[in-house]
Amino acid sequence: MHAYPHGHLFYRNLTRPFPEIVSGEGCWLTDADGKRYLDAVGGAFVASLGHGNAEIAEAVAAQARRIAYVNGTAFTTAAAEELADELAATLPGDLDHLYFLSSGSEAVEAALKLARQYWVERGRPAKHRIIALTPAYHGNTLLALSASARRHYQQLFGDWLVDVIRVPVPGFRCPCGGTDVSCPTCTGTALEAAILEAGADTVAAFLAEPVGGSSTGAAVPPPEYFRTVREICDRHEVLFIADEVLCGAGRTGTWWAIEPYGVTPDLMTIGKGIAAGYAPLSGIAAPRRIVDVLAAGTGSLVHAQTFSFHPVACAAGLAVVRYVKAHRLVERCAEQGRVFQSKLAGLRGLPHVAAVRGRGLLAGVEFAEDARTGAPLPRALKFAETFTAQALAAGLVVWPNVGHADGMNGDLVMLAPPFIVSTQEIDEIVARFGTALERTLSSLAVPVP
Ligand SMILES: Cc1ncc(COP(=O)(O)O)c(C=O)c1O
Repeated sequence: MHAYPHGHLFYRNLTRPFPEIVSGEGCWLTDADGKRYLDAVGGAFVASLGHGNAEIAEAVAAQARRIAYVNGTAFTTAAAEELADELAATLPGDLDHLYFLSSGSEAVEAALKLARQYWVERGRPAKHRIIALTPAYHGNTLLALSASARRHYQQLFGDWLVDVIRVPVPGFRCPCGGTDVSCPTCTGTALEAAILEAGADTVAAFLAEPVGGSSTGAAVPPPEYFRTVREICDRHEVLFIADEVLCGAGRTGTWWAIEPYGVTPDLMTIGKGIAAGYAPLSGIAAPRRIVDVLAAGTGSLVHAQTFSFHPVACAAGLAVVRYVKAHRLVERCAEQGRVFQSKLAGLRGLPHVAAVRGRGLLAGVEFAEDARTGAPLPRALKFAETFTAQALAAGLVVWPNVGHADGMNGDLVMLAPPFIVSTQEIDEIVARFGTALERTLSSLAVPVP
């Protein structure tokens, strides 16, 4: 175990010890003491192919041997070109041009800047405002953080953030339960009201995750939601940006989580699973109708980063995308996702489990004081954090989230196993989840209803 202040790292958490992972194979990790962990969330929705995939590792090494780095302002590489070709073939509608970066935050940041630059170059400089869903997370750099409805992340930095207009996430903790055909939140008409209130001439973009990430425990918007969003955005000339950093790249059983809605966003952000953790890689997908405006105007996106189009990262992404296609892993996510969701549904009977949501191999399990009403547990208990520590002790890696109920309260954990997860491993996830919950309830002395 390692812990601050021993050694020279200051860790993500300065008050707890960190096991040192020495190897990984498939869905399993092994630490320096030989303890094994079932990685039920691919680290952070990233390790979609599992750990220790020799084919991807070899592709990364081969690219590093050939050429590890050139700058994207001077050169291009076959890795970046071919990755863009492979992804374009999977992307919906006219989204067929890619701009590669390293992290999801950078992709969101750059996509919002692209939206802004597009409107300026089209002679509409007043269009600068951003509308985003709440709750939501889009990253930690300052513009992406501004777009994230995460009060506990924003509090310290409020003076540095820009004002982003919020509309509620559809079908998530809505009193109508996502079924009222006149509910403004769940039908999407709340977006139109927000655009009209701000003045359509001032709104540049609407940013939303097609399937929610950790902020909503994988909430799936109603089937008509994004069709209505598309119509509203078209009517008011607002760019619709789909943030698929977490939910994209096959995890929900389609290449892109927006696909079942049958609409094409104007821009899409991608990340996490596209290189499956073999390198940090993210990107923006854009159509020619948007990029052409820049090409005919200033000639470039005003967003330069040293590691954009990084050859080794692109080679990792290329190998991953080809592997996913060759092994039909998106189809497997859909099939094994049905098994996963139906087995997880059984968790609903456990004490303090208020909801299990998700699609494909992406799921969220929400805890509450009262599972029937969803009334949150007292935040002081740190339920999600304690559960996550107990899960780790039981050899299960999950991802906690807090604050979804009202900005500060609310406890949930996310599950997103590698696409290669077996049915037996899904059973093991469910069993270890139950163990972790039992231990959490007894360690916090939470009464079992
Ligand atoms: C939907 C979404 N967008 C953007 C980000 C930011 O990505 P990164 O942490 O790689 O900067 C995340 C991270 O979790 C995310 O879930």
